[in-house]
Amino acid sequence: MAFATRHFVRAASSDAATAAAKKLLIKHVTIIGGGLMGAGIAQVAAASGHTVVLVDQSDEILKKSTKGIEESLKRVTKKKFADKPEAGAEFIQKTLKNLTTSTDAASVVHSTDLVIEAIVENLEVKNKLFKTLDKFAPEHTIFASNTSSLQITKMANATTRQDRFGGLHFFNPVPMMKLVEVIKTPMTSQKTFESLVDFSKAVGKSPVSCKDTPGFIVNRLLVPYMMEAVRLFERDFWCQGDTESSLFIKLSIFSLGDASKEDIDVAMKLGAGYPMGPFELLDYVGLDTSKYIIDGWHSLEPNNPLFAPSPLLNKLVEEKKLGKKTGEGFYKYK
Ligand code: NAI
Repeated sequence: MAFATRHFVRAASSDAATAAAKKLLIKHVTIIGGGLMGAGIAQVAAASGHTVVLVDQSDEILKKSTKGIEESLKRVTKKKFADKPEAGAEFIQKTLKNLTTSTDAASVVHSTDLVIEAIVENLEVKNKLFKTLDKFAPEHTIFASNTSSLQITKMANATTRQDRFGGLHFFNPVPMMKLVEVIKTPMTSQKTFESLVDFSKAVGKSPVSCKDTPGFIVNRLLVPYMMEAVRLFERDFWCQGDTESSLFIKLSIFSLGDASKEDIDVAMKLGAGYPMGPFELLDYVGLDTSKYIIDGWHSLEPNNPLFAPSPLLNKLVEEKKLGKKTGEGFYKYK
């Protein structure tokens, strides 16, 4: 019995060792898209010791991304090294040393372990990029998309490396938000999945896993919740057969509905303990982004009431009232 137990322990540990050996240790990362998300991902990857190439369409955009990263690093360092300014300066210097930029993705992926795509939320554009990079990246390289709402499987199918393709969904602002959703398609290999989980941990995040389902975990729950808040606000009127414009006039003049947006926000903050109300959150995320997501899901599942479009949201987007970024959404910002 003692022998059997010892034998089992040895076999189990050697299995674990083999599985670990199979995983890809990600050291060199290429991030495509130096916007809000790509710059944040580049920052946390470089700060955790990875060598990072950040790619975007022009040097001008990349200069802006790098400046943003430098400023964000200063903020992080102020807190993290409050009593040790010299160590803070060294941390910033080391992080920036790990980071280079390029405008030519195809020429920089030849030695990368992981490509993270964070470009515009458009399947055609993403597929075109992945198809090109598939020809230039080495065989072992894993591809991942940071998409919020598109199907990872469709992107994987644009390449010849479906088993080395997954989703890495970071949250905004990346340096602050601890979560990463690691998405496994039916074709993602266990080795790829585990390598992505390990990478997420290595950049200081807490990974959760999810299948390739619309919205993954967070947005699948959050977006219908925000839409339901808008429906609560506009419900009475739309049911009475208003047109979109008469609905909007009524809402803006009389501020009627099942509840006001202000009261809904207060209720969810004080009653549910949420840090922001749904209308504040919609304005923060951007009304265009939310509309884009809900429209995409509605076209996939037109009979799902949770994915029904909102006339009021559509109207605000049409008027370019997109939230905080344009100075007005559900609320006005000075
Ligand atoms: P963004 O608009 O701030 O940045 C996108 C960047 O990609 C731009 O700098 C643009 O010049 C660049 N780009 C576009 N096409 C390119 C190409 N072919 N090659 C190289 N660079 C290209 O967008 P953001 O907000 O950073 O979003 C990026 C991705 O991350 C999207 O898929 C979005 O759905 C997803 N995401 C966004 C979140 C957010 O809160 N903004 C949260 C989580 C995911």
